[in-house]
Amino acid sequence: MLAKITQSKTLHWLGRQLSNSEDPRAFFDPLTAAMNPMWVQQYTPARVERITAETADTKTFELRPANRWGGFKAGQHLNIRIDIQGVRRTRTFSLSSSPALWESRGLITLTIKRLPGGLVTNWLHDDLKVGDVIGLTEAFGDFLIPVEKKPVLFIAGGSGITPILSQLETMALGNYPEPVTLLYYVRTPNDVIGKEKLAALAARHPDFSLDVITTHESSTPRYLNDHDLDSIPNLAAREIYLCGPKGLMDLATEKLRQRDIKAEQLHSTFFAPPAPAQISSSDIGGEVTFSASNLSVDSIGDANLLEMAEAAGLTPQHGCRMGICHQCTCTKTSGTVVNRLTGQVSGPGSESVQLCISIPQGPVALDI
Ligand code: FES
Repeated sequence: MLAKITQSKTLHWLGRQLSNSEDPRAFFDPLTAAMNPMWVQQYTPARVERITAETADTKTFELRPANRWGGFKAGQHLNIRIDIQGVRRTRTFSLSSSPALWESRGLITLTIKRLPGGLVTNWLHDDLKVGDVIGLTEAFGDFLIPVEKKPVLFIAGGSGITPILSQLETMALGNYPEPVTLLYYVRTPNDVIGKEKLAALAARHPDFSLDVITTHESSTPRYLNDHDLDSIPNLAAREIYLCGPKGLMDLATEKLRQRDIKAEQLHSTFFAPPAPAQISSSDIGGEVTFSASNLSVDSIGDANLLEMAEAAGLTPQHGCRMGICHQCTCTKTSGTVVNRLTGQVSGPGSESVQLCISIPQGPVALDI
């Protein structure tokens, strides 16, 4: 962390720390959680009802959130909050069930793949048990099925199928009137997630066509190719949804653009941040003023606005810390910031910025 609070503002910072400690939810939650973890108020608690193995490295967790949770649309994500050895961890996952399950039975599912070396996914697979309670944020994201009914092509890779499972089920329940095709790329047949659900949808709905393509069954990998796309009827008229590893998404995007698919027809989502842009350290850093809190912080190096706000004792809303969930978006009232992911430099005036991926370039003022 390369931010320090200016000496003249230290008293304001101390005042903020004291007022944070007086947040009644922060004070009472540890006490109420000890009595009943479903009573906490700072996030929505959800009890684990069932855990099902999908593949050797993927499980579906059926959860019952507290009634106050706000629901979701098919294709959206949420952040889970768990404590591992006393440290709060937050991660983003997509909902794999349809909103109808939440509306009718108060249940949702998250389908989660174990990542090699992944702290949270390994903990979820090895330590989370039926009856345990985890925290949830509200759902977010704009990877949504079209409002206007059009033919649809889904292209999924590996665990990128999870939001698409929710979308397919929702479309089937609503008798979606247009053709829907899924190209699903997996390493081997054993890696298909949601196998039974997909087979049942394909059997019940003649307008749903499913093509599972294995990429690693021979010594030469078999990735998405021209034939896969050219065999899709009426490709040019389709809304196209991509979710999977970056390599698949980049390849699909390039091939679709070669076929004159417009940017507005393409919808994509991912959970791994793109590689950061190269930003010269001489171009960044500056004083950041948090106007509503009457605080200023000096930064050097590549500290982002979220890190600087937290160093000042503020607790802005945030989720993924990767530029994906947009929960940290707030208003910059003046000054210039650099986008950590794209290297793009903002304008000098008032605009929305994502705190977790914005680095000040000279003095910046924020409305928090
Ligand atoms: S915390 Fe998710 S985009 Fe910033």
